[in-house]
Amino acid sequence: MHILLTGAGGQLGHAIQGIFSNHEVFAYDRQQLDITHLEAIRASVATHTPDLVLNAAAYNAVDQAERDPEAAYRGNALGPRNLALATAARGIPLLHMSTNYVFDGLSHRPYHEFDVPHPQSVYGQSKLAGEEAVRALNPKHYIVRTSWLYHTHGNNFIKTMRALSQQPEVRVVDDQFGSPTYAPHLAAALARLVTTEAFGTYHIAGRGGTSRFDLIQTLYALLGVRSQVKSIPSAEMPRLAKCPSYAVLTTLQEPAIHLPPWQDGLAQFVQSAL
Ligand SMILES: NC(=O)c1ccc[n+]([C@@H]2O[C@H](COP(=O)([O-])OP(=O)(O)OC[C@H]3O[C@@H](n4cnc5c(N)ncnc54)[C@H](OP(=O)(O)O)[C@@H]3O)[C@@H](O)[C@H]2O)c1
Repeated sequence: MHILLTGAGGQLGHAIQGIFSNHEVFAYDRQQLDITHLEAIRASVATHTPDLVLNAAAYNAVDQAERDPEAAYRGNALGPRNLALATAARGIPLLHMSTNYVFDGLSHRPYHEFDVPHPQSVYGQSKLAGEEAVRALNPKHYIVRTSWLYHTHGNNFIKTMRALSQQPEVRVVDDQFGSPTYAPHLAAALARLVTTEAFGTYHIAGRGGTSRFDLIQTLYALLGVRSQVKSIPSAEMPRLAKCPSYAVLTTLQEPAIHLPPWQDGLAQFVQSAL
């Protein structure tokens, strides 16, 4: 399969380039292809005539989005809309990535694909607007929501906490729950999904849920470090954006695409980061 990849410089973009080795991937980072430029996308699609466009690009500065909503909507809504227009015009499928932030985080059970979105932050609202544009403009879409994504490449919560692991005590919130997702596991699942032509919306995230506190305790145990992990409520760590307190995802879709348990992803991350 010939695949045009946008957002190649990010965590998932890197993982895809590592995993999609059976495919020919034309990988573009932001400098090479800005998804907010419709004509540049049209030209790139015309040059490569790919079998699939995979959008791993996003405006992911969740807190900054509250200060600069226009930037968030440009990257997360206008960009996907451009990709949907350019691909639909040629009958090309589009795989677009989304997030648990489209939900309000008030659930007490894992969110599935038929739950009704209700975003509470500008980031979540802009990602939902991107999903809606893709759904409306290109019927051949895969929209994949994931949660708490991390990789050895790039910036993420796990790497931040690993960097703090030499401190005698670290404080971690114990009232936020999610599905930690190791980017290479997600990329392998996407490689399976794109062969199905079963278009629709999917939740693909590390299997099972955990709190940030338990996640970091598990990380430190795997790293063999002795830092004291102190649990605190989110109220002691205020953020600009409202962070969904419950971000665990599950799937009801057919074909069901499951990732390994989140603990397996974390163990592989620690192995490959050594
Ligand atoms: N990270 C998470 O915890 C998480 C959780 C759930 C869902 N997701 C979703 O999963 C997908 C992949 O996330 P990720 O963690 O791999 O993101 P990431 O590491 O932040 O990578 C996103 C990439 O997109 C690029 N980009 C931003 N605006 C662009 C534009 N206008 N045109 C082209 N490229 C642009 C960024 O470039 P610059 O760095 O130069 O801006 C960056 O390289 C995204 O859709 C994200 O919303 C992520």
